[in-house]
Amino acid sequence: MPTYIVLLGPPGVGKGTQAKLIAESTGLPHISSGDLFRENIKNGTKLGKLAQSYIIKGDLVPDDVTIDMIRERLCQSDCKDGALLDGFPRTTVQADALANLLSEFNGKVNFVPYITASEAVLLERLNGRWTCRAQGHVFHEKYNPPQKIGVCDFDQSQLYQRDDDKAETVTRRIQVYFTQTAPLIAYYRERGLLTEVNGGQPIDKVTANLLAVLRK
Ligand code: AP5
Ligand code: MG
Repeated sequence: MPTYIVLLGPPGVGKGTQAKLIAESTGLPHISSGDLFRENIKNGTKLGKLAQSYIIKGDLVPDDVTIDMIRERLCQSDCKDGALLDGFPRTTVQADALANLLSEFNGKVNFVPYITASEAVLLERLNGRWTCRAQGHVFHEKYNPPQKIGVCDFDQSQLYQRDDDKAETVTRRIQVYFTQTAPLIAYYRERGLLTEVNGGQPIDKVTANLLAVLRK
């Protein structure tokens, strides 16, 4: 049976940071809907142009195109043993679609670690974040600095600050999270899948807590 993990949590809590570490340790592919959209934007695809018009405002990209994009990704051969989903699902419509899709692969969502942190912590993390152009590795100027300023430690590509990390867009993203994504906390809790993890701790402590959840 494949294993599917959904990393849930607000913008900036550390989903991408932890997903890269957990993917390394479990061997499961890391699928980030945000990274897939940014890849499409970089390549100038039709999907990228559509997604950009929502992302720049801090709004969610419509469910139908998001679900199609994830369906296509989950059908790829590296996902045969499962996947680690970061940033998807983000609405109950997406969560229902994911359940249907996984049942086609004889699978289901197995774990939903819900990473939490205060709003002040989220703002500080997004404000100091630097992202790698090539593969979306993330750094923080204070908490997780790259060895060389402006350069990714893993693939030497250039680091940049995301357009949607501007203060006004961040406020909107957090608001959208509370109205449209937070209902998934109850959704997965009712299904007995949710485990809360304190994301306010240092990166290695959060990773250790997440791996403990996945061993259960
Ligand atoms: P997405 O890219 O998913 O952004 P997000 O959910 O807002 O989350 P972030 O990537 O901002 O934060 P993160 O939790 O990954 O934190 P990170 O590890 O980088 O989505 C972007 C946009 O795409 C959305 O707004 C939407 O428009 C669209 N979209 C995506 N998915 C969609 C969907 N399913 N449906 C519809 N639309 C969708 O960490 C942040 C910073 O903190 C880094 O600098 C990091 O180094 C640092 N840090 C991490 N952990 C720690 C720690 N423990 N201690 C100190 N610093 C830390
Ligand atoms: Mg991320």
